[in-house]
Amino acid sequence: MKRTPILAFLALFAMLSCSKGKPQPFQVIPMPNEVSIGKGVFPVKGAALAVDPALDAPSQAAVAAFAQALETATGKALKEGDGGFSFTLNTALDPEEYTISINKKGVAVEASALNGFLYACETLKQMLPVEIYGNKKAKADWVLPCATIHDKPRFAYRGMHLDASRHFWSIEETKRYIDVMATYKLNRLHWHLTDDQGWRIEIKRYPLLTEVGGWRAGTMVGRDWGSNDGIRYGGWYTQNQLREVVAYAAAKGITVIPEIDLPGHMVAALASYPELGCTGGPYKVWERWGVAKDILCAGNEEVFTFLENVLYEVMQIFPSQYIHIGGDECFDGDAEPGRPDPWDVCPKCARRMAQLGIRRGPMAKHELQNYVTARIQKYLADNGRKVIGWDEILEGNLQPGATVMSWRGTEGGLKASALGFDAIMTPTTYLYFDYYQGRERDKEPLGIGGYVPLEKVYSYEPLTGVPAGAEKHILGVQANLWTEYIALPEHLEYMLLPRLCALSEIQWCQTDRKDYDRFNASLDHTFGLLDQMGVNYSLDSRGLVGLDRKPARSAADLETYLEANR
Ligand code: ACM
Ligand code: ZN
Repeated sequence: MKRTPILAFLALFAMLSCSKGKPQPFQVIPMPNEVSIGKGVFPVKGAALAVDPALDAPSQAAVAAFAQALETATGKALKEGDGGFSFTLNTALDPEEYTISINKKGVAVEASALNGFLYACETLKQMLPVEIYGNKKAKADWVLPCATIHDKPRFAYRGMHLDASRHFWSIEETKRYIDVMATYKLNRLHWHLTDDQGWRIEIKRYPLLTEVGGWRAGTMVGRDWGSNDGIRYGGWYTQNQLREVVAYAAAKGITVIPEIDLPGHMVAALASYPELGCTGGPYKVWERWGVAKDILCAGNEEVFTFLENVLYEVMQIFPSQYIHIGGDECFDGDAEPGRPDPWDVCPKCARRMAQLGIRRGPMAKHELQNYVTARIQKYLADNGRKVIGWDEILEGNLQPGATVMSWRGTEGGLKASALGFDAIMTPTTYLYFDYYQGRERDKEPLGIGGYVPLEKVYSYEPLTGVPAGAEKHILGVQANLWTEYIALPEHLEYMLLPRLCALSEIQWCQTDRKDYDRFNASLDHTFGLLDQMGVNYSLDSRGLVGLDRKPARSAADLETYLEANR
């Protein structure tokens, strides 16, 4: 073919600049379980793309999104055809497993289902310059290193929790949260949608839940328990918005598990429908943090009708097999010292205990809670769903089939697995991301307390102490992000990252693939890609502390500071 000299020159220049590009150091998080890096690179700009027609529509869409990201960042579309990227169905692989083989001529990806293809694409994106996570064309070394990768996760349940009650997060903010989770191959969003301080999910049969329960008249200021800013605060999601989030997450391989926390943490519902409480109220949507004494009355049949009607609508919105029913902190609320728990003095609850043959004593309330849990568990099971509850549901006599979320340390999860219940590990001691992460507390934004720095998160081993043979009951691991003291998205993201990256390696990597030094070095790449995504993160690991990233104290000053603050 005859070319003009200038075009021939440009073609030669393009070829040279492609084949000479320098690949990124391999800094993928979570680290894939088998990687071997070879010599040479594959230039991705404008490469060919062949997609196996056997891929289902969601997998095709995942590949199309990857191709779109490449086009945006490199400025050149992939062209349909052989001899470049190929995405092929391989039904011998598990749904979350994938293989990638890169040589100088092309990139072959194989997986059997959406999640496998998504994870292959995420791995490829993290092997490229960080600008692949941006939304504009960028000059960079658009090459992938020759490599073979075979990868699948260690745990099936890889969760992150978000508290939308104490502070409310817009749909856009929630989607960004999901984007971050997808980047690090998490697959469950536990969405805490109801609590004493606000009810956030539209329930058509009970409109007051959002009209009244969605708003509080004010909020305590800082840690001053007697204070109130007097500013009305709240918000709630329509069922259409919730469905939009469910679909958005599903396309990214993430199942949304809603939590309707019961029978405690229900003051917003009681403020809306006071007849559901033991005393009949009146109640106000709570304006302070901490644990309320008022909970749903277990002696009132109307409460069960209410819960079933609410959960019926919840199931129409959320296709998740699991529904989280809370169950935490029902007794001994920290407000109103001296006031007895309503279940101790309520005639209706007393009648119910008598009917059930529950004897007076320290276990009575727990047994009554077991009764509530069992009824709701049965209702959900009759509708094809399973319950997850916080580890308090284990106290007394839990019915088979429930999954226990271990938060008060690891004991609940260990006990549950020993008894044959499935468990998800979310211990405060390693995985509460509302706890402080920086050593220089006086430079951190106000938090709930605790201290869970990055290295501590990374060090968590979920199977420690699990009885032999019970390992299969540990479904996985999740971190929780409660938002009492977190009101702004940049603060939310700061608490989330990079601790979520450490979480992802606990969830994904086989133990012999974990290495804190390698992980910590890989964060340089991750910080770059988060910048591209416009997501905030803590730089404590790089000596810049606090939301405004002040230089850390010198080692000597820090020692003096820690000594004074121990
Ligand atoms: C919890 O942190 N109350 C589960
Ligand atoms: Zn009662």
